[in-house]
Amino acid sequence: INLVLLGAPGAGKGTQAKRLAEYYSIPHISTGDIFRRNLSEGTPLGKRAQSYMSEGRLVPDDITEAMVDDRLQQADTHNGFILDGFPRNVHQADALAGMLAERQLSLTAVIYIDVPHDILVERLVGRRVCSTCGTTFHVIFDPPAVEGVCEVCGGTLVQRPDDQPETVETRLNVYMEETAPLIDFYRERGLLVKIDGTEPVDVVTQNIIIRLGAEH
Ligand code: AP5
Ligand code: ZN
Repeated sequence: INLVLLGAPGAGKGTQAKRLAEYYSIPHISTGDIFRRNLSEGTPLGKRAQSYMSEGRLVPDDITEAMVDDRLQQADTHNGFILDGFPRNVHQADALAGMLAERQLSLTAVIYIDVPHDILVERLVGRRVCSTCGTTFHVIFDPPAVEGVCEVCGGTLVQRPDDQPETVETRLNVYMEETAPLIDFYRERGLLVKIDGTEPVDVVTQNIIIRLGAEH
């Protein structure tokens, strides 16, 4: 099962991708996570991505596309894969089509997680992530048992630097201008599965699995 998760910043792509990757036993390929890991390790790729990420703008296509191509090469995709945060504009969508064609693969579906703007802002500014294991929480919607402490590993919860209100606004604008056109792009190709992302996390996961089961 070869999936793309599409949706605005804060729609719940990372939250759902993690669950779907476990359910289908497929690798979760998150361009945002890969960039953040390179950033914290101080690699050349991380250094090139840094300024774009901190401003909430897209990292240039050539860098991002080469990185995804490389990751698809390395990952064990015999059961499939789940792409989270890629593609993010039409150029990247065309590049992905090329990468898949080369490997004689095709997309099963593009899951579009739909969440209205005001809820996105609330989710992003309230998000906290574990600085040790990366697990995501929310101060209101998914609070840890002990404030500021990761329930999985006991690590310290921090706010992502790009979850500051000013950067959140830039990211949402970039999404509207560059990424939202992919909704029609994939609808025209018969791949779009639209899911209501305002439901509780478990309900969203179940709805995605049901829709995929019914259609494939
Ligand atoms: P990336 O890491 O991909 O960030 P994003 O797209 O902005 O997505 P987020 O991680 O913010 O949101 P999400 O949808 O995963 O939501 P989450 O599940 O965490 O990208 C970061 C940066 O990297 C970009 O700005 C760019 O610079 C660069 N980049 C990445 N990919 C790129 C590409 N392809 N090209 C160029 N540049 C790229 O959930 C959010 C919060 O809501 C959490 O607190 C969660 O607990 C809560 N929540 C989730 N679901 C629910 C629910 N159903 N109900 C209530 N709360 C919920
Ligand atoms: Zn942790």
